[in-house]
Amino acid sequence: MSPSAVTEPGSRDPPDSKSPAITKDGQKRTIYHLDRHLHKDFPVVVSGKGNHLFTKDGRTIFDTTSGAAVSCLGHGNERVINAVHKQMTTGIPYLASSYWGSEIVDDLCKELINGTDGKMAKVYLTGSGSEAMEASAKLARQYFYENDKQTPRVNFIAREGSYHGNTIGALGISGHVARRAPYLPFLMPNVHHIPACNAYRQRKEGETDESFVARKALELEEKFLELGPETVIAFIAEPVVGAALGCVPYVPGYLRVMRDVCHKYGALLILDEVMCGMGRTGTLHAWQGEGVAPDLQTIGKGLGGGYQPIAAVLISEKVVNRLSDGSGQFVHGQTYQGMPVQAAAALEVQTILREENLMQNVATQGAYLEKRLKSLLADHPHVGDIRGKGLFWGLEFVRDKKTKEPFDPKLGVAQRVSDLALSPLYNMTLYPGGGTVDGVSGDHVILAPSYIVTKDDIDYIAKVTSDVVHQVFQEIGSL
Ligand SMILES: Cc1ncc(COP(=O)(O)O)c(C=O)c1O
Repeated sequence: MSPSAVTEPGSRDPPDSKSPAITKDGQKRTIYHLDRHLHKDFPVVVSGKGNHLFTKDGRTIFDTTSGAAVSCLGHGNERVINAVHKQMTTGIPYLASSYWGSEIVDDLCKELINGTDGKMAKVYLTGSGSEAMEASAKLARQYFYENDKQTPRVNFIAREGSYHGNTIGALGISGHVARRAPYLPFLMPNVHHIPACNAYRQRKEGETDESFVARKALELEEKFLELGPETVIAFIAEPVVGAALGCVPYVPGYLRVMRDVCHKYGALLILDEVMCGMGRTGTLHAWQGEGVAPDLQTIGKGLGGGYQPIAAVLISEKVVNRLSDGSGQFVHGQTYQGMPVQAAAALEVQTILREENLMQNVATQGAYLEKRLKSLLADHPHVGDIRGKGLFWGLEFVRDKKTKEPFDPKLGVAQRVSDLALSPLYNMTLYPGGGTVDGVSGDHVILAPSYIVTKDDIDYIAKVTSDVVHQVFQEIGSL
């Protein structure tokens, strides 16, 4: 090893390498972390404060996406940092949840249950949204298994254009074509997908909300009947679809009719609010916009706001009672779940959200963001749709606005928009996504700023987004 290969612990400066990345200043550095893209040179972030991230090469980035809709309080929140620190100093950041209780964990669960209008009874904590989805699927199966060890309930119904996580179980539930593709041979065969609830692409000319959602309920009912209603465990959906479709919200009435179909056949409704929940859409839970509580609900991301890895399943009384009256235990568990330090962070995040009435800010600034985006971009010939709720907005790009024909995926339109936004010209994040139309074609970007944004921030975000979009399509037009 040459002397130059010796690096300080944690340093990303270069030792010799067979495949060094070339940084923008011309230096070579080897990345030992398996980054998501092996041939991309991610800007190195060294600190953060409020809505800003600061990079090693001296740039200040406006974080319009809260990472992946995670950092709902922005970065460097002193109260949350102090709460984490305080818990660390007790000497028990971790406790084995299989044999210890913890007051702070229970305080968090109480805070979460209080936020559900009394609709949920208990909380199961996990370390990630994918784990929460796995746990919710197992809980749903166990709900039937408790009563009948030979239960025929083996099927899940989920939706196309959905993302529920990357573990094999959660990916099996997901309808995200590109993320599923490499693993198809061993994804669960007992998950069946029906179309999403996508008003932009599915609503027929003149169709009212009522008849549109009635059609959606029929699609679900037909799937139940095709599979045999007595074989279905649950229907699983994101109330506002995040990464897979780019902030596509449920159409009013949808949650109610879908829940009614599930309950008609004795199946459960599972709502995945990992991305759209915990205040992101202007109510603490997205289902509260419609007052339709699920039987099981997953949350994550904004729960801990990025200060700790934490997610959860919220469990209705009906499911809790089934376990409690039956075996009395949930046949599941992982090492890093329900850690006091995770709970300390999430409890502080949720307390701040409540005490500072940040839901109101999400609703107010969200409405303003919608107005600004629509005023700047609705007439753009390649912005097909601007949709979302609260501080969760998606722009869908199309080649032809009339036919809604997408761009050739080879053009990588959404990635170009995101790359240009993050370039030193604009220094702002935009979350790109592809496969918006059919899992392969289609482009969107997501905006999901922190709940602490001001009106000025929204003006800035909307202006930069508009400038970036205009510039990208000028460049594409000249290709
Ligand atoms: C709706 C939804 N469900 C589940 C997940 C998986 O969560 P995690 O990445 O924390 O495992 C995600 C992640 O993006 C998500 O958006």
